[in-house]
Amino acid sequence: MIELRDLHPEDEARLFAWRCEPEIGRWMSDADISGREAHRSWFDRLRSDPDLRGWMIERTGQPAGLLTLTGLSGHHRRAAWNWFIGDREARGRGAGRAAQVLGLDRAFGDLGLHKVWAEVMADNDAAMKVQIAAGFRREGYLRGHVLKDGAPRDVVMLGILAEEWAVLAPKARLELVESGLIAG
Ligand SMILES: CC(C)(COP(=O)(O)OP(=O)(O)OC[C@H]1O[C@@H](n2cnc3c(N)ncnc32)[C@H](O)[C@@H]1OP(=O)(O)O)[C@@H](O)C(=O)NCCC(=O)NCCS
Repeated sequence: MIELRDLHPEDEARLFAWRCEPEIGRWMSDADISGREAHRSWFDRLRSDPDLRGWMIERTGQPAGLLTLTGLSGHHRRAAWNWFIGDREARGRGAGRAAQVLGLDRAFGDLGLHKVWAEVMADNDAAMKVQIAAGFRREGYLRGHVLKDGAPRDVVMLGILAEEWAVLAPKARLELVESGLIAG
C-alpha cells in the first residue's frame, strides 16, 4: 500500500542519504543541495515555507521516497514537481506510479493548483515513462539546460493541467485500488 505523509524532522537524515546515492543524484536537476548543511536548510524550508510542500512516500508504512511541489505561492497557481523513490527495494514496483496519483490529487485538490510541471532529464526513461503514462504532456525540450558534474544535459519540460487530471484521475485511481497499491 502506498501513502503520502507529512515530513517529520527525523526524515532529514534519510532523505540526505538517499539523495547522495548515484541512482538518485544523477537525475536531480537542483544542483544547490550539495552538502549536509545545505540539505538541512533546504529541509527546514520544505517544512516551513508556504512556497514549498513535501511528502514522504510510504510503502507498507515504511519511508520509500520523496515528493515535492515548489513555487506554490506564485500568482499562476502552478507548481513544479520533483520526486524520487529512494528505497531501492521499492523501485520499479508501482510506488512511483501510485505516489504520482496521490500527489496529483493533492495538487489539484487540496492545493487548488491549475498546473503541475516538471523538468526531467531527457535520458531519464523511468521518469518520462511513468509521468507521460499519468497524463503529463511534453511541452518543451531545453538543450544543455543543466550542468551535471560540469557536463551540459538536455531537459524535457512536462506539464499537466487540472482539467486534464480531472478526466484521467478516476481510471488511474481505480487501477491502483484494483492492484492493491492504494486504499479504496
Ligand atoms: C522515476 C521514479 C520515481 C519512478 O518510480 P518507480 O516506483 O520506480 O516506478 P513504477 O514502479 O511506478 O513504474 C512506473 C512505470 O515506469 C517503468 N519503469 C520503471 N523503471 C524504469 C526504467 N528504469 N526504465 C524504463 N521504464 C521504467 C515501469 O515499467 C512502469 O511502467 P508499467 O506500469 O508500464 O510497467 C523512480 O524510478 C526514481 O526514483 N528514479 C530515480 C530518481 C528520478 O529519476 N526522479 C525523477 C526526477 S524528474
